[in-house]
Amino acid sequence: MEFEDISADIESVVLTKEQIAEGVARIAREIERDHTNHTPLLIGVLKGAVMVMADLARELRIPLEIDWMAVSSYGASTKSSGVVRIVKDLEISLEGRHVIIVEDIVDSGLTLSWLLENFASRQAASVRVAALLRKPEAMKVDVPIDYLGFDIPNDFVVGYGLDYAESYRSLSGVGVLKPSVYGGS
Ligand code: PRP
Repeated sequence: MEFEDISADIESVVLTKEQIAEGVARIAREIERDHTNHTPLLIGVLKGAVMVMADLARELRIPLEIDWMAVSSYGASTKSSGVVRIVKDLEISLEGRHVIIVEDIVDSGLTLSWLLENFASRQAASVRVAALLRKPEAMKVDVPIDYLGFDIPNDFVVGYGLDYAESYRSLSGVGVLKPSVYGGS
């Protein structure tokens, strides 16, 4: 497991680099099956989705386009409200496009739920969701995930795009952060 020099902060490994690669390849094959006659537009949700987008896009054996969106909750304390602010909007129009939202993780589901609602008025031909990780126990709203990598336990995980205070995103695997790192017990 390649948790490199900061492995001391990782309590346990949830997914290895190899397992993630298998999950990404599985998602890619499913996406290819659904997009044989058109060029999908992959939309990554910054910043966490950078790693999965980079790997998924290169794994896909079909033409595709990529755009990015950055969103933020209205203040940390209101994250659970599901009210989201657009920090960086799309540059490519969704009109008539077959869209795939690419997420690293669906936790409460609030971000995705808001995004799907926001996209509903943009005249896309279809909107699907690819998420590498989902925490079923943490979900507060039911959101459809068309292409899912893995269900994982409701632990504080970092790596492969997922951060704690902006650190650990570059780890090649996903692991549970030691509670001592974030002041937990
Ligand atoms: C993470 C993740 C999702 C969202 C999922 O992003 O990338 O976008 O949280 O959580 P939810 O299902 O509870 O809404 P985060 O807000 O941490 O920003 P980041 O990607 O820049 O780290």
